[in-house]
Amino acid sequence: MCPNIAVIGSGYLGTTHAVGMAELGFDVIALDVDPVRIARLRRGDPPFFEPNLRELLQRHLATGRLRFTTDTAEAAAFGDCFFLCVGTPQQADGLAADLEQLFAAVRELVPLLRHDALLVGKSTVPVGTAAALAELATLHAPAGIEVEVAWNPEFLREGCGVQDTLNPDRLVLGVSSAEAEQALRAIYARLLRAGVPLVVTDLASAELVKCAANAFLATKISFINLIAELSEAVHADVLAVAEALGYDNRIGQRSMHPGLGFGGGCLPKDLRALIAQLGGNASTELLRAVDEINLRCRSRTVEAAIKECGGSVRGRRIGVLGAAFKPFTDDVRDSPALDVSRQLHRAGADVQVYDPAANRAGKLAAPELSFTETVDEALRWADLVLHLTEWPEFRTLDPEAVWWLVNEPRFLDGRNALNADHWRSAGWTFRALGRPVVSDAPGRLPDLPADALVPCTTPLV
Ligand code: UDX
Repeated sequence: MCPNIAVIGSGYLGTTHAVGMAELGFDVIALDVDPVRIARLRRGDPPFFEPNLRELLQRHLATGRLRFTTDTAEAAAFGDCFFLCVGTPQQADGLAADLEQLFAAVRELVPLLRHDALLVGKSTVPVGTAAALAELATLHAPAGIEVEVAWNPEFLREGCGVQDTLNPDRLVLGVSSAEAEQALRAIYARLLRAGVPLVVTDLASAELVKCAANAFLATKISFINLIAELSEAVHADVLAVAEALGYDNRIGQRSMHPGLGFGGGCLPKDLRALIAQLGGNASTELLRAVDEINLRCRSRTVEAAIKECGGSVRGRRIGVLGAAFKPFTDDVRDSPALDVSRQLHRAGADVQVYDPAANRAGKLAAPELSFTETVDEALRWADLVLHLTEWPEFRTLDPEAVWWLVNEPRFLDGRNALNADHWRSAGWTFRALGRPVVSDAPGRLPDLPADALVPCTTPLV
């Protein structure tokens, strides 16, 4: 029998998972406490930007396989299998994860169940959470109703969440019974038939896989950024070093791109949650160093910007390309780009930020910054241009055309994603983190573009 799926929490993870389950052919109900969010989802309007999500959401609202509710009782009556997708943010006063949303969800849902149910955690949690939730569920289950907890961590990356849900690198099932394993194998049967690797294990191991995976990815990124620091000191080129390292199959090219480091809602907080879990039991120096190196990428970028501006950014206009923590998302949680922009603003710069998708979220998170509607506006009269989120739109900028917009043709590539030779030969002073400094730009004027004399619409501040 095909189980009904309920997804608890319709944030980034929950919505993507709900849509993915509908695409796999299940009838799905997704629950959230936020009525505004649910109203938007019912209209087929996702409250965040994620490629392909809008199309799939609208398709499955139309097929009738997917619906949204704020009513826990409705979800409880409908579901056989409940995916727990609520947030586990960093605690306000510590490094550990705040699990209150998870415990609250189980406390509210379980007493309303009218038939046996499987609760499947997908959020990133410290080891032991699933066992604690299982105890809580048993305590709150109505008489005669059996509730089991399993753990099925989610590894999706923002920006390719739909693709990662429907075509994951692997599936991990943490289970305490053969019945739970069978139920989850049946739910993922299409993916398993397509050859997705499967690891079936106990609850604790499944919980730990996710924490360890994110800490390992963070470690890779900080490792290459440490090599970038050394490259600068010894006049080496970190991009050449990273490329050569990556050809070693044991190392690989992925998560080895040097630059401004990692941000977002997962890597930083999951790394810190693992440090908190290790606590007094084991050495945490490695993971603490990973966090420190990552934050240093941001301060090195700020220092490089100050240096480029001759020792102070006070009163200087800085055009910033990018606000999201990475391209193809409007997520600005712990965004390195916003962090650097704010630090420069605090140092007295007039910072003009443009992001193709994250301007609105950026304004909410950093109201002290100015956001522009176009790249050109961000660049106009700039004394320095910073590239902080590697959207394709920035990679295809024509350095000759934008030369005419700026006050000083100085460029700092915080993401090592643009072609240095291309920019330098168009007359720019171009710097990138961890790459050799070429002292003199050729200084030639590029050919005058047709619209070069269009009057400036942004007042000089
Ligand atoms: C991450 C994990 O990849 C995913 O498996 C997990 O489920 C959630 O956390 P995500 O945060 O969406 O996903 O992004 P990811 O693509 O891993 O990038 C994280 C950060 O690292 C971004 O800020 C990105 O710009 C940065 N990064 C990534 C680098 O600086 N260099 C790299 O080589 C890769």
